[in-house]
Amino acid sequence: MKSLANPPLNVKNQTRTRFDLHHLEEKLMISPLKKLMFKYFEFRIFKRLLNSLNLNLYEKQILEGGCGAGYGIEVISEHFKPKRYYAFDLKKEMVARSLSLVKRKKLPVTVFQGDVTAIKLSSKKFDAVFIFTVLHHEKKWREALKEVNRVLKPNGLLLINEINNRSLNWFGRYLKVYHPKSARFTWGMFRKELNQAGFVILREYFFLQDFGFFIGCKQPIG
Ligand SMILES: C[S@@+](CC[C@H](N)C(=O)[O-])C[C@H]1O[C@@H](n2cnc3c(N)ncnc32)[C@H](O)[C@@H]1O
Repeated sequence: MKSLANPPLNVKNQTRTRFDLHHLEEKLMISPLKKLMFKYFEFRIFKRLLNSLNLNLYEKQILEGGCGAGYGIEVISEHFKPKRYYAFDLKKEMVARSLSLVKRKKLPVTVFQGDVTAIKLSSKKFDAVFIFTVLHHEKKWREALKEVNRVLKPNGLLLINEINNRSLNWFGRYLKVYHPKSARFTWGMFRKELNQAGFVILREYFFLQDFGFFIGCKQPIG
């Protein structure tokens, strides 16, 4: 008979044990500084890239993966007035923060606990998916890109920013803030995986070489 002392992990347990946000990074994620950075730096860059493509996400169906404290929710809701907005995070504490923000600001956003490598939503549902600095935490980041592609409508957009291996190595060496080795990539690797997951890169922008912003478009079938 099988021992029940070590029962097989179910998905719920796996999500709880396979990821840990470093306390310094967590402090930054929930700080007013991050809110300002998001509003006046990250979001503005995406807005500029969208403008350069003559694209607007006004009243679209939007999903945000790894929403953290909810700063993306606030800015994107205000700016694009989405028709539907879903946001999720792997960490319960972050989900709670986002939920409380949504309640406080009375935003029509659905927030839930979820995993970007296995999104529990139907395929071809969204016009745009936002992923802000999440994949460098995720060993299965390649699968995550494929999952995001699955939930996008044909021609849907992925707006994603990331930090490359050089910065992550620096954070580990000098600040002792570690991230999974298998989630470190060069921009060449990142582009290749975006393509493999079914995206055409429409725009990219790099800040100090190590902070990259990409807009990818899901290739239409056929
Ligand atoms: C660096 S924080 C960024 C938070 C937010 N996007 C922002 O820019 O403020 C990374 C976030 O990704 C979440 N995360 C990590 N792995 C995830 C996964 N597999 N699925 C969903 N969220 C994940 C973490 O819980 C954390 O909130």
